[in-house]
Amino acid sequence: MINIPKGTKDVLPEESYKWQFVEDTARSVAEVFNYKEIRTPVFEHTELFLRGVGETTDVVNKEMYTFEDKGGRSITLKPEGTAGAARLFIENGLGATPMPVKTFYLTPAFRYERPQKGRLREFHQFGIEVFGSPAPETDAEVIFAASSFLNKLGIKNTKLEINSIGCKTCRKEYHAALKNYFAPNLENMCATCRDRFEKNPLRILDCKEERCKAISLNAPQILDYLCEECSSHFKKVRSYLDAQNIKYSVNSRIVRGLDYYTKTVFEFVSEDIGAQGTVCGGGRYDNLLEELGGQSVPAIGFAAGIERLLLVMESVGAAFPENKKPPIYVAAIDENGRKKALETVMALREKGINAETDLMGRSVKAQMKYADKLGAEYVAVIGENELLSGSVNLKKMADGTSVSVKFDDIYTYLIKGD
Ligand code: HAM
Repeated sequence: MINIPKGTKDVLPEESYKWQFVEDTARSVAEVFNYKEIRTPVFEHTELFLRGVGETTDVVNKEMYTFEDKGGRSITLKPEGTAGAARLFIENGLGATPMPVKTFYLTPAFRYERPQKGRLREFHQFGIEVFGSPAPETDAEVIFAASSFLNKLGIKNTKLEINSIGCKTCRKEYHAALKNYFAPNLENMCATCRDRFEKNPLRILDCKEERCKAISLNAPQILDYLCEECSSHFKKVRSYLDAQNIKYSVNSRIVRGLDYYTKTVFEFVSEDIGAQGTVCGGGRYDNLLEELGGQSVPAIGFAAGIERLLLVMESVGAAFPENKKPPIYVAAIDENGRKKALETVMALREKGINAETDLMGRSVKAQMKYADKLGAEYVAVIGENELLSGSVNLKKMADGTSVSVKFDDIYTYLIKGD
């Protein structure tokens, strides 16, 4: 027996409707916000993530599924969707189209992490990315979209936390302040943080090691170092959230786990699913496209993890819509009956009705039992009498009543219910 790889999950036939509900909701939110779907490969050149996600992040340092392909190229399974979306934008010349370019995606993503509840090695994201607008209204719209998505899923008790991590200008001064703060304690910090100290001190604030967390407790806060432009941008974003009555708190400790962010960053956090409570995270990334070799194009987006959304929905008892309409089951008594049953279900299926018949050579009694297990709404049994009369009894399973209907009229009867 070969088992499923650690940190991955199967979606079983009985639960896939829950996934479809989340995905359908994602698509319908994307539609009303006018985001168009994009699809990028599951694997990209490793370089894209090194440059895009950032060499000082855990994602790049510890978690990437990287391998050499048979042509000797270094390939990586995408650990997230933003870098690929940015590459798609640049490579396909979307910069020449009217701005903003509003995109969304549903994608698997891969990170070699220690699996636990809500943390997998293969997981799935619904993400949106907006390219071309530097305006704070766009930050607000992206947060509205995330909020609307969560609401439509019946997830109402997440906390929205926002922060601004500034731009290149304010970051310079802030990095200097962080270095001053951490320098005396450097020896007591983990090796990764000592490296981050040189390359990207902001990232130290995202370290998961207890000793580093303790040291960074009183570190200078980025919000005190924002330049005028970043400060006014953040203020406007907050005012739009206020106007829309979206509740949030400002949390200066949110730096996010990926290096491309500038200005606004945000997370929707649930307290219902344990340690991995961040169901959705995102922010602005105004320098990424240029860093990847494109023009300077401001951008912002978010991604929500579908597995975590499902965990929250299950824990708060959110309503998943009923599984699809139950089928009509057409049973057969003998070989001629079987032919007619096949013909009948095929005619109904062509018209979009969920119809089922026997594929197991079961007796009539066993077919009835199976129809009941399937939750069939109606059952018809076809034998010699039915073939002669050209009509069949449709038995309504809920109340046991039955009506004789001509074969040609079954569809109309099912649609109209009389
Ligand atoms: P992220 O915060 O790394 O951001 O991931 C976004 C979401 O993906 C998380 O909030 C979580 O729900 C889910 N997620 C991440 N890692 C795992 C995991 N190992 N297992 C299960 N779920 C996970 C990004 O990926 C950015 N690309 C978001 C973004 C888009 N920023 C701007 N645009």
